[in-house]
Amino acid sequence: MPKVVSMINWKGGVGKTTLTLHLAAGLALRHSKKVLLIDLDPQCNLSFLAIGASPYISHTYKKNLSTLKTIFDGYFDRNPADTADVILKQRVRSSAGKVFTNVDVILSHQELTLLDMKLAREKRSGKDHREETKFEIEKISIIKTVIDSVSEEYDYVLIDCPPNVNLVTQSAFFASDYYVVPAIPDFLSTVGIALINQYMDQFNKDYQSMWTYSGLPGSYSNTKFGGIIFNMVDEYGERPKKGHTKIINNTKSELGSNSVFKNYITDGDGISTASEMNLPVYAFKDLPRAQQNASKQADYMGEVVDEFITRIV
Ligand SMILES: Nc1ncnc2c1ncn2[C@@H]1O[C@H](COP(=O)(O)OP(=O)(O)OP(=O)(O)O)[C@@H](O)[C@H]1O
Ligand SMILES: [Mg+2]
Repeated sequence: MPKVVSMINWKGGVGKTTLTLHLAAGLALRHSKKVLLIDLDPQCNLSFLAIGASPYISHTYKKNLSTLKTIFDGYFDRNPADTADVILKQRVRSSAGKVFTNVDVILSHQELTLLDMKLAREKRSGKDHREETKFEIEKISIIKTVIDSVSEEYDYVLIDCPPNVNLVTQSAFFASDYYVVPAIPDFLSTVGIALINQYMDQFNKDYQSMWTYSGLPGSYSNTKFGGIIFNMVDEYGERPKKGHTKIINNTKSELGSNSVFKNYITDGDGISTASEMNLPVYAFKDLPRAQQNASKQADYMGEVVDEFITRIV
């Protein structure tokens, strides 16, 4: 069974997508793990980064091939899609001209926003409230069903969530063993994290009681908090600068010292240069510039990946 992890923060631009891709790349490169990426964000940033923007456009719009939207369409049409058709195998770029052999991806689609609204409106009537609760669970299980159908094939499934809490995001949460919160060490990002945890606790409680009430076999297991990964940290003398240290320490004292990853990612142009070329920062040797910074960020990322393995158990 894979460990399923949602990367969540309602604050935009904190590095959810960047970290999702790099955790997958690091798990594959450093630990020979098999990883499935799921891009849940209609902005499709992970899809672009993973396979390149024009291959994405060709796949999705010119050839009209499957994406995550196909799965949701299958749900509405009562004709479930075959997961194998939706997973893009060995297409995630690892270095110039090469792809990962052990990282696969389910691409996103911009129309997921509309599907979310459709999902919210969809209410199947049942013979009683209990049956209707069962239908609600089915609706929230769309992503879980997909993952369950390929559970033998992967060690990790990483889900890049959009910066909101709509039903599509909730279905990722429902499917996950853990949620991990990428954050930048600024006041607004960190204030929001306590709120995220409160929401997640509430979702766990709601799903728990829905499951019990529905009378379905088995049980719902809570999605656990995997920790906060600080990103875009400014350093001075190989430690976070004073202001950032203060925010990181405040977060630890508010949420508990183990709530924050010990390792973090620095701010720098290595990651952005690599992203422009649809490469992970580990491929720093293939970059036209910023190689030194990319090499440093790759080291930091590696430490985060190693810590991720010890936390997500
Ligand atoms: N450590 C870093 N150093 C420099 N730039 C970074 C770093 N991490 C991410 N970025 C850049 O910051 C921008 C935002 O990152 P990213 O898209 O991963 O955030 P996000 O949380 O997924 O955003 P959204 O909420 O829109 O989905 C991107 O341009 C990315 O290349
Ligand atoms: Mg993103």
